[in-house]
Amino acid sequence: MAPMFLASLAATVVLSVTAQMRNDDFPFYDLGTIPAWKDLGYLRGTKHAKPFDKEAYHSDLKHLDIPRLYESITKLMVSSKAFWPADGPQDGDIPSYAGLFGRLAWHCSGTFRLVNDTHAAGGCEGARQRHWPENEWRDNTNLDKARGLLGQVKQEFGANISWSDLITFAGTVALKASGGPKTLRFCFGRSDDVDGAKSIPLGVEGVHQCRGSRFCKSNFECPTAFHWPEQNEKDHARCNLTQPDNRLQASHSVGLIYVYPEGPELSPTAKGYKPEQVHQRSPRLSALEVRDTFHRRMGWTDRETVALIGGGHTLGRTHGNCNLTGTQWGKGTPYNDVGPYFEASPGTLRGPTDGTCGHGAAAGRGANTVSSGFEGPWTRTPSRWNYDFFHAMLAEEWEPAKSPFGNDQWRTKDRKSKYAKTMRLTADLALVHDETYAAIVKEYASDYAKFDADFADAWYKLMHRSQAHPKEEDLRKEVGVCTNFEFVK
Ligand code: HEM
Ligand SMILES: *[C@@H]1O[C@H](CO)[C@@H](O)[C@H](O)[C@H]1NC(C)=O
Ligand SMILES: *[C@@H]1O[C@H](CO)[C@@H](O)[C@H](O)[C@H]1NC(C)=O
Ligand SMILES: *[C@@H]1O[C@H](CO)[C@@H](O)[C@H](O)[C@H]1NC(C)=O
Ligand SMILES: *[C@@H]1O[C@H](CO)[C@@H](O)[C@H](O)[C@H]1NC(C)=O
Repeated sequence: MAPMFLASLAATVVLSVTAQMRNDDFPFYDLGTIPAWKDLGYLRGTKHAKPFDKEAYHSDLKHLDIPRLYESITKLMVSSKAFWPADGPQDGDIPSYAGLFGRLAWHCSGTFRLVNDTHAAGGCEGARQRHWPENEWRDNTNLDKARGLLGQVKQEFGANISWSDLITFAGTVALKASGGPKTLRFCFGRSDDVDGAKSIPLGVEGVHQCRGSRFCKSNFECPTAFHWPEQNEKDHARCNLTQPDNRLQASHSVGLIYVYPEGPELSPTAKGYKPEQVHQRSPRLSALEVRDTFHRRMGWTDRETVALIGGGHTLGRTHGNCNLTGTQWGKGTPYNDVGPYFEASPGTLRGPTDGTCGHGAAAGRGANTVSSGFEGPWTRTPSRWNYDFFHAMLAEEWEPAKSPFGNDQWRTKDRKSKYAKTMRLTADLALVHDETYAAIVKEYASDYAKFDADFADAWYKLMHRSQAHPKEEDLRKEVGVCTNFEFVK
């Protein structure tokens, strides 16, 4: 008992210093992310939070000034803050948090699971991404910054907007205000949870003996795993759909709740292995993992899957513009993979680069940010809705490349192409290396209106389904506070 107690006491001290410093950096940081010591207190029942008053919230919502909320978010979206500069300038575009807010909403909602067509779990309602364990998943790196930025809007609207409505609405506003599909629509009424308990079945175990336990690792591998027949045996194993205790994680690991972006690595004896390439990732095998996660775990059709990935990766970019070789982070994992605050190494007060790349205020921020370790935008205008994603994927030949961080990704073979500054993940290219997906990609590349309409429908479903409201029209029927953005000129 005693050593455990000392260890957790020391951790508490470090954490409260961390939280304090972060709050200095970000005026409203602490609104967006609950410190782990508090969360674990709730989960163990030693601390109590006021439960969310759903009836009062639903009745107040009838007076919500939706145009004012829209305006607050759109203003914030294009006002770059020194404490977390907006992307854009590094890609020759205007500064915008549209991509960041879009990813925030997707990662909050994308936890939705539909098992055996009947059993729903996850989803953004509850806003458990603010809580342990979701706030330390590797996939959620730097989304604490997105929630910290939105803290400004939360401060302005207080109890008049729940966190889960704010996160999903901000993602939808980001699309709308960036010129996204005309048919976007949104309904309010989501309640917030006081802790992350409902996220535990999605893959994290060992709450009571968390610290020091291997089960608390954010990148905990799955108990039942396999390799594809053509996959390099040294490459990471993949997770079977069925896991002990009905765990509902995705195809790679607990911390990566969606799809492993680099894709499986081919074995030297596999067809398509090319020793001269800088990596051997297989978009064809990656397609199997995309379908396994999106269809079998999340309940999406192939058409919805293609629309969602293509639309999601139209705005924003990936972040990995930092080479850690030879730095203090270059030796092992630059991340603190035992949480809490997955992205920060203990005592550094900031993200994994912690000033390693860039200088002064730009250190580890803006163009020097590392989130996933991939680097670059998918399109030529990451702040503006456009149709580059599918078009470039079909028009160009893509060759293996490395990000500065060292991740395996793809670039245009034609280095003079108008798309030469864009990138693709193996999991993006999966959509043109699978016959069924590729037919849909071709349709969308030639029919923008169809793509817009399908994306808007799938996005609506993504934002509205959750454990508490498993059918996409449930919130509209129960609360009825919706908008088609008719007030936007
Ligand atoms: C196969 C599925 C997917 C994979 C493997 C994937 C992977 C990634 C990765 C690695 C990043 C870069 C994160 C960073 O470094 O900042 C990213 C960013 C992003 N993703 Fe996805 N993603 C997938 C599906 C989706 C979907 C379905 C959506 C939305 C509907 C989406 C929306 C976004 C957005 C908006 C960003 C930009 C974030 C920013 O600008 O900061 N993604 N994704
Ligand atoms: C889904 O169905 C399988 C097979 O009938 C069963 O073993 C499993 O417990 C079910 N899962 C859930 C979450 O209901
Ligand atoms: C919340 O809405 C009520 C009206 O329903 C209003 O009186 C109150 O000022 C609002 N609070 C904030 C923080 O905007
Ligand atoms: C896991 O999945 C692989 C590939 O589909 C399969 O060959 C293997 O039998 C599965 N293992 C278990 C225990 O279900
Ligand atoms: C990172 O820097 C090292 C040392 O300068 C270099 O050898 C390596 O190729 C670089 N990695 C990438 C991915 O640029």
